[in-house]
Amino acid sequence: MFDESPQRQTPDSLMLHGFWYRALPSETVRRNRLEKAMLLEIPLVLGRDLQGRPFALQDACPHRGMPLSGGRFEDGQVECSYHGWRFDARSGQCQLIPSLTADQKMKVDRIYAGSYACEEHDRFVWVLIPEPSPVGAGFTKRPDPTTAAPLVPKFSDKYKLAYLTSDLPCSVDHGIIGLMDPAHGPFVHQAWWWRSRDSIHEKQKAFEPIPMGFRMSAHTPSSNSSPYKLLKLYADADSITTTIDFTLPSMRWETIRAGKYWFSSLTTVTPITRSQCRIDVVAAWNLFRWVPFGPELLEFVFAKFVEQDRKTMEEQSEGLKHNPHLMLIDDADRPAKWYFQLKQAYLEARRSGGEMRHPMAGPVMLKWRS
Ligand code: FES
Ligand SMILES: [Fe+2]
Repeated sequence: MFDESPQRQTPDSLMLHGFWYRALPSETVRRNRLEKAMLLEIPLVLGRDLQGRPFALQDACPHRGMPLSGGRFEDGQVECSYHGWRFDARSGQCQLIPSLTADQKMKVDRIYAGSYACEEHDRFVWVLIPEPSPVGAGFTKRPDPTTAAPLVPKFSDKYKLAYLTSDLPCSVDHGIIGLMDPAHGPFVHQAWWWRSRDSIHEKQKAFEPIPMGFRMSAHTPSSNSSPYKLLKLYADADSITTTIDFTLPSMRWETIRAGKYWFSSLTTVTPITRSQCRIDVVAAWNLFRWVPFGPELLEFVFAKFVEQDRKTMEEQSEGLKHNPHLMLIDDADRPAKWYFQLKQAYLEARRSGGEMRHPMAGPVMLKWRS
């Protein structure tokens, strides 16, 4: 069923439309200001309406393409800096064309600036990037979204939340492969308080298919890292269960539960352009709630990890510049293979209008040393 020989890998860098993506951290989107962002090579302008709700418009005026981010926000409208056309910030509907005379009866409200569905959760503004629509741009109102932006799972009313963001100089594919790759741990993430390179040992993990992705099934985390040992002691829990899910387009969900304590994170890799992506980790937890250094420690550990990954990918991008041949090997790179297969299956289903065929037939046990 599975080929044991290394598989040539050609990341296609295709960016998936039809999903919610994290556009910007909430704190960078302020009232009475227009902020630029880019998702899937689409330039956007973000801001907040009079109620403080975020909005996202395509950063190009439907009149003559002027970036709307160079204009201004006033009374819930965005005004273009070139000829002063005004658009409703949330719907993109044109409200005013200053050059029209009183007897010119042009229907201004039939014109729209490109507008995107926007939601704000867990310290980020999310934007839905729809399938590229073939309809005549400039004269259509965008449909309401049929799905909601993903949330970080939480398991109690009180919790702490922190986020971390890092730009990566590589395609979304390499960002994701790096994220799900188990074999780089002992080499990239060495630290005296985490684990040493000598602690490398054989592991066996159960994977199963889930809608649009796969799950590394719940288990007691690796015994060779001291933080887990500490956690077990502290939580006074019999066992610690960890679940790691990957789902399209590029989301990694991790949940750790120990008795009444929990830690949960949603990491996203967002395609900015074909050769640039951004990794955002948002974590929520109720561990260490009353310990003053708790959150800082956690953020420190996380920041360290992400920085190690970022540096690695920066170095890697040097090697990737000239398109070397690459490969994916079993079993350590099997999750990466599934990622590419899922992506293909998704695109195929979109093309044919049929159902998405999951690349995994059922649960699989993978083995590797890390
Ligand atoms: S280009 Fe925006 S109003 Fe003309
Ligand atoms: Fe890593």
